[in-house]
Amino acid sequence: MMKRLVTLSINGEEVSAAVEPRMTLADFIRSEARLTGTHVGCEHGVCGACTVRVDGRTARGCLLFAIQCEGSEIETIENFGDGKGADLQQAFVEHNALQCGFCTPGMLIAADELLRDDPSPTRQAVREYLSGNYCRCTGYQAIVDAVMDVAERRRRK
Ligand code: FES
Ligand code: FES
Repeated sequence: MMKRLVTLSINGEEVSAAVEPRMTLADFIRSEARLTGTHVGCEHGVCGACTVRVDGRTARGCLLFAIQCEGSEIETIENFGDGKGADLQQAFVEHNALQCGFCTPGMLIAADELLRDDPSPTRQAVREYLSGNYCRCTGYQAIVDAVMDVAERRRRK
């Protein structure tokens, strides 16, 4: 298959590669940018493991082709901890909101977007918002606890 040159901004760095048009954004991030914090689970938009930000909003990396994202700003979990997302990471640790960690990058990115859109969510709202991110390990209770804790801490600031 003919390859196409794709240039993406990933975490503020330009990454260019000649790739097949069918390469997904998630695969581009993992294999061309060598950023393996973006995970690939179901590969058809269900599990949320591949969640990244595209131009500031969450998106499924497995449902976008890399060539569709030409000119977009992509942010991955590797760009998360230095900014305001560090409090979410810390809360996930404190509440034991992860076990294997496979879902965690996508869960953190989704949770951060939720708290930006709704700084005072109910537990039910957190559950609904994160329902597109599957976790096979934790039972979700601790994840919701962590998100609620950060929501309260951010409101107190
Ligand atoms: Fe993309 Fe599951 S790998 S949603
Ligand atoms: Fe293992 Fe969520 S911590 S899938």
